[in-house]
Amino acid sequence: MDFLKPRLIPMNRRRRIYEGKAKVLYEGPEPGTLIQHFKDDATAFNAKKHQIIDGKGVLNNRISEFIFQQLNNIGVPTHFIRRLNMREQLIREVEIVPLEVVVRNVAAGSLSQRLGIEEGTQLPRSIIEFYYKNDALNDPMVSEEHITAFGWASPQEIDDIMALAIRVNDFLTGLFLGVGIRLVDFKMECGRLWENDMVRIVVADEISPDSCRLWDIKSNDKLDKDRFRRDMGGLVEAYSEVARRLGILQPEEAPRAGGPKLVQ
Ligand code: TMP
Repeated sequence: MDFLKPRLIPMNRRRRIYEGKAKVLYEGPEPGTLIQHFKDDATAFNAKKHQIIDGKGVLNNRISEFIFQQLNNIGVPTHFIRRLNMREQLIREVEIVPLEVVVRNVAAGSLSQRLGIEEGTQLPRSIIEFYYKNDALNDPMVSEEHITAFGWASPQEIDDIMALAIRVNDFLTGLFLGVGIRLVDFKMECGRLWENDMVRIVVADEISPDSCRLWDIKSNDKLDKDRFRRDMGGLVEAYSEVARRLGILQPEEAPRAGGPKLVQ
């Protein structure tokens, strides 16, 4: 009576296309689609530091869904189609451009270290940086010269990527400011999406507190992955706070038992 069984594909028999540090990509239900699964793994310093943090994947899935849906709504093209469940979303299959595109509004992290600018200093204008996605090389910073010379992206694609980065930065800055959060910097990734014979650049991967620096506007409390990188604790509480402020989680909702706790 095999034909009476539901035709759901068990999780462990789905074709896994790619596994990264915080996410897994599975084959999607239709050609040209993938399922993006958010794990609870937190890594930093090229995975030299690693920990499983209960509930992180669920929060990032919800926060990234919210941001990508809004970007789609305002006409910023992304790979996002819809959320499927607590940990997974349906996305369009794209060819990832091997660059991490970092946009900075306020000095922090590697910029502060590299140039000796105190963390928290407002930058004279938003700055876009490119890093070559290559774990073996520790994602080195590269210039447009390297990107075009080595063929990672064409000059036209770099223009498109920078235009998207500025739009995403403007949108996120306003979104977070409205809920009392300062967008210090963030990282985004882009992909090439084929539609018939056309190819265009879209925002891909995720945008979540794993890939942004988010500071409370009044207290400067960190509401992002620096809590893990810098051993501050309270990561799930901080991500939950971001989700609550964005209206994604109800005030009484918490990903784990114990009720909501304010970040210290
Ligand atoms: P950085 O100051 O360490 O260069 O980080 C800049 C931004 O990019 C920050 O918001 C964190 C994010 N980021 C990632 O999402 N992935 C990474 O691998 C790194 C190094 C930074």
